[in-house]
Amino acid sequence: MAKIIGGVATTHVPSIGKAIADKRYDHPYWKPFFQGFDYVHQWLAREKPDFAVFFYNDHGLNFFLDKLPTFAVGAAKEYRNEDEGWGIPVARPAAGDPDFSWHLINALVADEFDITMCQDMLIDHAVTIPLELMWPGAWPVRIVPISINTVQHPLPSMARCLKLGRSVGRAIESYPQDLRVMVVGTGGLSHQLDGTRAGFINKEFDQLCLDKIVDEPDTLTRYSIHDLVALSGAQGVEFLNWMAMRGALTGQVTQAHRNYHIPISNTAAATIVLDNRAESARKAA
Ligand code: DHB
Ligand code: FE
Repeated sequence: MAKIIGGVATTHVPSIGKAIADKRYDHPYWKPFFQGFDYVHQWLAREKPDFAVFFYNDHGLNFFLDKLPTFAVGAAKEYRNEDEGWGIPVARPAAGDPDFSWHLINALVADEFDITMCQDMLIDHAVTIPLELMWPGAWPVRIVPISINTVQHPLPSMARCLKLGRSVGRAIESYPQDLRVMVVGTGGLSHQLDGTRAGFINKEFDQLCLDKIVDEPDTLTRYSIHDLVALSGAQGVEFLNWMAMRGALTGQVTQAHRNYHIPISNTAAATIVLDNRAESARKAA
């Protein structure tokens, strides 16, 4: 059976892609951020995942305001990137696996998550930047992209995203192949790109989220979407992707690594690695 080895969550700021293209790893602005990936590289080299299930938000490359699913799951052989602007190079395609994707889709719908299924799906910086950060130069995993709407209100609640993750976690563990699967949540932490609060960052709230997401993710469901916008900024709601990632870790979860650095572009940049060990009593969605 497939095994969930752990999770990584990271910021996905597009200018990271430009810094990678320009090899600015040791530049004083970038070093504290890129250094946070040294441990991630060691962890990936040791854990050797076959699959990465991504919880992320599309920023208008694949879905736009005219049609915007709350939850969408990719079921393609390959996921392409396209020019998104931002001055970053178009990324290589990521490999998919339709059989594994359809297994997750069937399980999610059976579990009453009425997701949108996508046999054709472009991936944007919210997937390509974390892939390149985790595996610079070549991506040795197949992915399942799961897009969560963090763009057009009404957004799904923190509780709903945690439950989505739990459902995905159960689905992964019921896949009858001996695969090593990691889950990824991208975006956040606090940031706001426009309006009168552009540049807003809330270190205190970010630290609380980073603390609670490890052992007490349910306590974070007390925050409504409007609380989240107020406390972490209009784009800080990307933390919903982190909640789904955490939900998919169904065993004993421990924090293996944390890096927090302010700012990268307009964003409080955070990276965490969570280990998921053995089975324990699991919460039903
Ligand atoms: C920035 C952050 C994001 O999450 C994003 O999708 C685009 C830009 C930024 O801080 O520049
Ligand atoms: Fe974003």
